[in-house]
Amino acid sequence: MSNRTFTMIKPDAMKNGHAGAIIDRIIKEGFGVVALKMTKLSAEKAGEFYAVHKERPFYGELVEFMSSGPIIAAILEKDNAVAAFRELIGATNPAQAAEGTIRKLYATSVGENAVHGSDSDENAKIEGDFFFSGLEKF
Ligand code: RTP
Ligand code: MG
Repeated sequence: MSNRTFTMIKPDAMKNGHAGAIIDRIIKEGFGVVALKMTKLSAEKAGEFYAVHKERPFYGELVEFMSSGPIIAAILEKDNAVAAFRELIGATNPAQAAEGTIRKLYATSVGENAVHGSDSDENAKIEGDFFFSGLEKF
């Protein structure tokens, strides 16, 4: 089991001014920050990141949304990080997310749901490497 996961604060949460509160919550929940940057995905890069969803009906919308404004990308560390972080963010659809989770607090819809969290150790590694070089990880 790996102790790292990857997250993005998505364009909706950035625009709505929730980035500071989300980072504060993540740190208070005991995650260490291995890498962190603000950047903006081109449509091409967003499409590449979410390529696994290419055949899904929401893919076009997802790519458009994820390239619509800046995001914050980060690699986080904690015991059992992938599962612990997905518990902290809550269900994909904020209407179904548990009370107190980041998506319940800050997401607006199933498409614009404030944060990304890796779904496996393998994807956490792939996604972290998509954004960060070895020199940017601490
Ligand atoms: P994420 O990858 O962003 O952490 O989200 P997730 O695992 O909870 O959900 P996933 O099934 O991987 O879906 C990726 C993202 O696609 C958008 N989505 N839109 N309109 C829709 O029905 C729909 N379903 C998914 C969301 O932004 C979701 O986070
Ligand atoms: Mg996912």
